[in-house]
Amino acid sequence: MILSEGEVVRWGRRIGREVGTPVFLGIRGQLGAGKSVLARAVARGAGVDGAIPSPTFNLLFRYAGRDDLEVVHLDLYRLRDPEELWEIGWEELGHGSEIVMVEWPERAGARLPEDRWDIHLSVLEPGSHRRVIQVHRVGSPPHLPGFPVTLERSS
Ligand SMILES: Nc1ncnc2c1ncn2[C@@H]1O[C@H](COP(=O)(O)OP(=O)(O)O)[C@@H](O)[C@H]1O
Ligand SMILES: [Mg+2]
Repeated sequence: MILSEGEVVRWGRRIGREVGTPVFLGIRGQLGAGKSVLARAVARGAGVDGAIPSPTFNLLFRYAGRDDLEVVHLDLYRLRDPEELWEIGWEELGHGSEIVMVEWPERAGARLPEDRWDIHLSVLEPGSHRRVIQVHRVGSPPHLPGFPVTLERSS
């Protein structure tokens, strides 16, 4: 599907409000594609208030959402080796009431969870404010609200 920025934000907020947990969202795309815009919208929809900075230098930020929901936002752009994931507690992620969102999930290599959504954003054409969004389901993650067309991808 092709979405404006406002539509990306609306979709993300709906995901944050409605998605079941635990859920893992890998958010792919080049720099500036809109990965953080989507991740912030999901966090807002999940009830996170206050600033949601980009986790580029910290790799991981954790937020309290509504009820006992927790939102974990990672950006693995600066990860040099999947071994480093051990230091940020990667193995403990994705349990309980957590929405885990990972920018640059490909940096995690084979350590990505078996059940997840892979969301890929790309700029429709140079200078455009529209984004092409492709969604692949891997394994059996919880239902992803508001996305009409999902493709299967083997892990
Ligand atoms: N349809 C769109 N969806 C998301 N972001 C958009 C869209 N159109 C324009 N933008 C702009 O693109 C930029 C995306 O930045 P960001 O989310 O930080 O990218 P990334 O995290 O992928 O590097 C923002 O400045 C945002 O305002
Ligand atoms: Mg980003």
